[in-house]
Amino acid sequence: MKTLTLTLESSQKKLYLKIAEAIRNAIKQGNVHPNDKLPSARALAKQLLVNRHTIMAAYNELIAQGWVETQQRRGYNVAQTLPIYRSSAKTFQNESNSTQHKWRLVKTNSAKVQLPASQYLYNFAGGNPDIEIFPFNEFRGYMNDALNRPAINDLNYGKNNGFPPFIKEVSTYLRRVRSLSNKEIIVVNGTQEALYILSQLLLKAGDKVAVESLGYRPAWQAFKNAGAELIDVRQTEQGIDVEHIETLFKQHKIRLLYLTPLHQYPTTTTLPVAKRVKIYQLAQQYNIPIIEDDYDHEFHFDSQPLVPMAANDPAGLIIYLSSFSKIMFPGMRLGIIAVDKTLATHITDYRTIINHKVNVVLQDAVARWMKDGAFERHLRKATRLYQKRRQCMVELLNSFIEEGLDIKFTIPAGGMALWVDVGKNAENISNLAKEKSLYLLAENAFHLDNKNNQDKYIRLGFAGQSEEKIQQGLLLLKPLLNLRSNRD
Ligand SMILES: Cc1ncc(COP(=O)(O)O)c(C=O)c1O
Repeated sequence: MKTLTLTLESSQKKLYLKIAEAIRNAIKQGNVHPNDKLPSARALAKQLLVNRHTIMAAYNELIAQGWVETQQRRGYNVAQTLPIYRSSAKTFQNESNSTQHKWRLVKTNSAKVQLPASQYLYNFAGGNPDIEIFPFNEFRGYMNDALNRPAINDLNYGKNNGFPPFIKEVSTYLRRVRSLSNKEIIVVNGTQEALYILSQLLLKAGDKVAVESLGYRPAWQAFKNAGAELIDVRQTEQGIDVEHIETLFKQHKIRLLYLTPLHQYPTTTTLPVAKRVKIYQLAQQYNIPIIEDDYDHEFHFDSQPLVPMAANDPAGLIIYLSSFSKIMFPGMRLGIIAVDKTLATHITDYRTIINHKVNVVLQDAVARWMKDGAFERHLRKATRLYQKRRQCMVELLNSFIEEGLDIKFTIPAGGMALWVDVGKNAENISNLAKEKSLYLLAENAFHLDNKNNQDKYIRLGFAGQSEEKIQQGLLLLKPLLNLRSNRD
């Protein structure tokens, strides 16, 4: 029998656990081998100047973990088969030498999770709501209600289209505020989940999806992940080019059209009614479903927002998506799909593969919040605030123009950002801004095909931060913008 040299770590752990760990390390390091006899409890107790029962407790711990074996009155042995995955080497090796498993990845996503824009001192990310204005205290009351009077039946597995009282509130709201009725509502964990499910259900490898040439990358990733090929629809200063849609529909077998009609992402233009009608007629003629992503409907300032295209959808070909990420906050992960009945059950059936339900307690709390009218109160407050912030940004940028800066923009009727023409070097401006802890994106971040990049637009979000921050940030940005005399 070998004498074991043991090194006890100086942690707060119980002594017997420290001894067990020291013996385990000795085994791992190969100081004793499988089947080797270990010192008796008495001998080890003497060596370590501890009670024999402490050693027995350590050995019992190692027996439970599979490192040590014992037979009646024959003492303790290192286990024959150790509870560790061996490398191909015959001799037992130090863990640090063992070969790492190499994963066979059959799919990856090239779009990496970004450092949140909120890490920057000035955050001009285009789509950020101001989370600090969310009425957390008020909402806590509704969460309490949801837990005090839990909807026991719905908290189990089962029907997964959404929590009925929440669907009821959302349906009423959509009917009243967005004229949207006769569609089935399915609750999802945010728009992204909806895009993923729809891509998997409706697309197969090689299918073509038409998307806005400047657009929303996370949606594209979902389509591409299903094997689809993306075809970009040209955009003009007046929004999407409908003639180009027609040409593409004629030229290709397009399977799906993805649009952000109300506040085009990222350019913020609103698709006029005449263009909507024409696109709808084309979609009907060529039998192409449309995903209408209405991600920030409420934040429309100068007039009532246009009703969604899905509100006039006799053929039932529009899949309408709406999110609570802007109304509440992105971490809420709540959204809805409104679709024709014929597609709804396929969506809910498919969804069970990735998730059983959307958090029912959360849906319950939001339903109570909506029912009380507090939800719309919050919306009115946020809309008023964002409108003021838009005004603040517009006024300051206009004063820059008066001072000779060569920038242009159209005040958007709604949304959460301005799309500003800075003439040139937009990407460079956005990079230099980051060095001043100022987050903003330039046109290059939104193109499907970078050859369309004119490098002249930046996107300035106005909703997510206070007027004070907007002003300070824009004053920092000002020296990076181009002087009129510099324009080519
Ligand atoms: C175009 C667009 N669609 C949808 C969303 C919301 O997505 P989700 O509900 O997954 O947070 C956003 C948020 O930035 C968006 O910009």
